[in-house]
Amino acid sequence: MWRFGQRAGWSAVLVLLGGFPLAQGDEPATEPSIAKTGEQVASRCAECHGEDGQSRNSDIPSIAGFSMLATMDLLDTYRMGLRAARAVELPDGTKTDMVEVAESLSDADEWAVVIHYANQQWQPHEQAFDAELARQGAEIHAEKCDRCHYDGGRDPESDLPITAGQWRDYLVAEFDNFDAGRRAMSDKMREKYDTLSAAEKRAIIELYVSAGEY
Ligand code: HEC
Ligand code: HEC
Repeated sequence: MWRFGQRAGWSAVLVLLGGFPLAQGDEPATEPSIAKTGEQVASRCAECHGEDGQSRNSDIPSIAGFSMLATMDLLDTYRMGLRAARAVELPDGTKTDMVEVAESLSDADEWAVVIHYANQQWQPHEQAFDAELARQGAEIHAEKCDRCHYDGGRDPESDLPITAGQWRDYLVAEFDNFDAGRRAMSDKMREKYDTLSAAEKRAIIELYVSAGEY
């Protein structure tokens, strides 16, 4: 399947390294340095994605708790030109975007940072939503989207970006990007996505914003 195959071999190794909180005292020798590198790299991401991957800016996605495979695949989409990136100005006045960020990461830094975020906790953003619309969205999602975006977009085990409780402004922008072709999607997702009316897309966004709490 699209982009997933090449990672499958060593993702199991990463799960062993990063899937569990570090036990004090008995971790393998490699873990502290990976954890430390992960923190250092993540401190650069934090300028936009917030401390611990909880974004304070509704235009920028939270990434805490994304699985390692999910974050790696998302970084790849930028490198491969499958997704246009928006430039963001940093506090020091310089600008950068996700293509530059992804291209600047060495393999070692990337491993460390994806492990770092997989070990953080996803926290849905509390946002106002229309419960009735969210319920409609849940039905459509169960039929068309849940087989990949498990449990209404909540389950990191899907190895996809968590969408349940993501910022509304960001989600609306990404649906627009898909619609306008600024962001590619796999043929299998397109098959389902292209059957959605504009109203159904709004309902699914409402489901995501509700984080399943409708
Ligand atoms: C200058 C700001 C900025 C920095 C620094 C930055 N990001 Fe991003 N990131 C964004 C923005 C904005 C988006 C979403 C919009 C877009 O694609 O341009 C994004 C999207 C992402 C996504 C996709 C999320 C999703 O739900 O699809 C991932 C994963 C990600 N960033 C990881 C990282 C990592 C890891 C780092 C640090 C190595 C990092 N980012 C540094 C601004 C930034
Ligand atoms: C065959 C599996 C599959 C199906 C079915 C599927 N998706 Fe996806 N979806 C993906 C993949 C893979 C990505 C990551 C794409 C990328 O890396 O840019 C994704 C990404 C997304 C994102 C971007 C989230 C973010 O934070 O970046 C949204 C929104 C989304 N899908 C919505 C939907 C909706 C709505 C449906 C149902 C109509 C759907 N998807 C059906 C596989 C699927």
